[in-house]
This record gives sequence, C-alpha cells and structure tokens, in this order.
Amino acid sequence: MYQLTEEQQSFAEAAREFCRELLGPTLREDDENERFRKEFIQALGEQGLTGIPTPEEYGGLGLGYFDYAIVLEEIARISASYAVSVAVTGLPQVILANMGTEEQKTRWLPGLASGELLGAFALSEPGSGSDAASMKSTARRVDGGYVLDGTKFWITHGGYADVYVVMARTGGPGAKGVSAFLVPSDARGLSFGKKEAKMGLRASPTVEVVLEGVEVPETDRIGPEGFGFSVAMAALDSGRITIGATAVGLCAAALDDAGRYACERRQFGRPIIDFQGVGFMLADMATRTESARLLVHKAAALKDAGAPFSEAAAMAKVVATDAAMAVSTDAVQCYGGYGYTREYPVERYMRDAKVMQIVEGTNQIQRLVIARSLKRRLSPT
Ligand code: CAA
Repeated sequence: MYQLTEEQQSFAEAAREFCRELLGPTLREDDENERFRKEFIQALGEQGLTGIPTPEEYGGLGLGYFDYAIVLEEIARISASYAVSVAVTGLPQVILANMGTEEQKTRWLPGLASGELLGAFALSEPGSGSDAASMKSTARRVDGGYVLDGTKFWITHGGYADVYVVMARTGGPGAKGVSAFLVPSDARGLSFGKKEAKMGLRASPTVEVVLEGVEVPETDRIGPEGFGFSVAMAALDSGRITIGATAVGLCAAALDDAGRYACERRQFGRPIIDFQGVGFMLADMATRTESARLLVHKAAALKDAGAPFSEAAAMAKVVATDAAMAVSTDAVQCYGGYGYTREYPVERYMRDAKVMQIVEGTNQIQRLVIARSLKRRLSPT
C-alpha cells in the first residue's frame, strides 16, 4: 500500500510546525514589502531542512528526493517563497554532489547544506530564457583559469547568495560551447543590478547578476570544459521535482483554507460546501492536489532509485504547477469577495502559483522535454 512511513510523517509534521512558527508571523509583511530574510534560511538549516538530499559526509541529511519533496511541500504550505529558496540553494548542492571535485565539495557543501551559506544558479540571460543554450556570457581562457563577462537575469538570491553556479560560453555556439563555474560572492567584478518587482513570490529576491572581468581559477570550473549545459540540465531535472513539490504545497494550503472556509461560511441557511457548485469545486481541487502529489512522488522515487527521471520530473512539474494555478484560483472563488482581498492568504497563493508555471523551465518547455522523450522511445529504429 502507498503511504508515508511514520518517520516521514513525523518529519513532515515537524517541518510544518517549525515553518509555521518561523515564517508565519512575518509572512504578510514580507510579501507586502518584498523582504527576504536570509536568517530564516539559517534557521531552516539548523533543522536540517536546507540540505536534505546532500550526502551526510558533506553535512547534509543524506536522504532522497522523496523525503525532500515531502518537506518542501510542508514549507510551501506556509511560504512558497522560502520553499523556492530551499530548492534553489539546493541546486548548487546537487550539482556539486554529482559533479564537483573533492575540493569543491568540501569547500562549499557543508555550508550550503547547513544553511550557513546560500547558493544561487545563474543560467538565464536577458535574451536567453527558454533557449538557454543561446546564452551570450563568456568565459575566456587565460593563464590558470578564465575571465567571465556577461549578464544573468532572473537570479533567485542574486545579491544574497554566497556562491553562484554560473554557466558561460567557453566554446562556439550552442549547448556544447557552455561550461559551468563556481563564483563566490566576493569575486572581484561581480555586481548586482535590478531587483525585480514581482506579482508573487515576493519574499524571494530575483535579481540581475553582472559579471565584468570576473577571474575564476580553473579549479572552480565544474566538470569538463563544454559540459556546462549538461550540468545545468541535469540540475534542472532534479529542480523540477522541487518546484513540483512546492506547487503541491500551494495546492494543499489553498485546499485546506478554502475547504475550511466553505464548511464555516453559511449562505441561504447552510454551509456553502453543501451547494453542489462549491462542493464539486472543492472535490476537483482535492483530486488535482492528490494527482499532482502522486506524480511528484513518482518522479522523486525514480530519481532516488537511480532510474531515468527527466520525463517524469517534467510531467510532475507541469501537472503540479498547473494544479497550483487552478486550485489557488478556485480557492479565491470559494472565498468570494473576501478572497480577492489581502485579508486572506488565498490571493497570495494565486500570485505565487503563477510563477511556478514559469520557473525552472516554462510548462511549454516541460512539454517539449516530454515530447522529445516520447520521440526517443517511440520512433521506429
Ligand atoms: N541532462 C543532462 N544533459 C542534458 C539534458 C539533461 N536532462 N538535456 C540535454 N542535455 C545535454 C545533452 O548533452 C545534449 O546534447 P545531446 O542531445 O547531443 O546529448 C545537450 O545538452 C543539448 O540538449 P538539447 O539539444 O536538448 O538542447 P536545446 O538547446 O534543444 O534545449 C531545452 C533543450 C530543454 C529547451 C533547454 O534549453 C531547457 O531546459 N530550457 C529551459 C531553461 C530553464 O529551465 N531555465 C530555468 C532557469 S533556472 C530557474 O528558473 C531557477 C530559479 O532561479 C528559480
């Protein structure tokens, strides 16, 4: 039978309670003021929540993506902004754990896994979002290393992170000309531009990162030269599970709030859940939430088993983030006029859900990944 173990359930409940106490009191204020509190990441780290899948020898919990997904769902129930922060600081960790040299792992992983340090992932540029391989940032070879120049856009934790994984061009056009580098925040020539004013996920900073003659020693290149696009794509395969899990958390929060409200709110002499229009809407919200959760869990289980999971992660990301958009929109509908005000969190869920359909590859790109995978499997040889 499919159910969480007692250990997983208590881990999830403890994470939810901790996040409610830590993040709950300033949620509304931080959403209004677009404020990110780095100290919250440290606090989450002290509970072991910032390095769940990172190997124990490097300071993580050494658990799988299944456990990671369960916990991210709980963080996102309280704050999608901090769930995304945990997911994004996880990207350099999964990259280094899989591709880093021993020196890179020992230098960065313990700090990132414990939440003492914050990580960022710098792939997108003003002119290259979905078509990531068309990036223009360059890494010019010099004696002993590289010099990086370019502009990275939409970077979560820009200006706050301690270390950036930066993709830049060491060779010709296309994916094969890209390499990946570790750039510490104190590197000379690294600066930060515009902070985006966003519709949702407002407690999570999204900032332009500028590289002007940033010197990076060869030892800070991740993987072989020309392998950076694969480094990024492999990390995003894993990242898409974490965005799916965050979206499931948003679904769960919206469903809980709207369901409770529909049981309490009375019109025409009865609770509005007793009207089929509302009851069936809640039934669909619950069904979408559960289907999304199952796909996220399946993708995570495949990854943990060492099986191919790229297609499953893309499916989970599409279904979960589309569910989050639909479920949060319906939650606003359940609340009627109240739902449209800032008095209740359902409008925030709706604003936060929208970006889930965009980050870590738009849902159109996920469909491209799925279609290509189908073609590989189903084309006659
Ligand atoms: N794992 C490892 N390597 C991979 C890979 C994967 N999943 N997918 C591709 N590669 C490698 C392969 O070596 C491949 O070469 P071969 O086909 O010869 O093996 C090479 O990359 C090129 O692959 P494609 O031909 O598939 O490349 P493409 O240019 O057609 O692009 C794409 C594919 C799927 C559209 C990709 O560009 C993509 O995912 N785009 C979306 C980018 C994205 O997700 N951005 C999110 C930004 S990060 C973010 O949002 C984080 C945040 O802060 C919240």
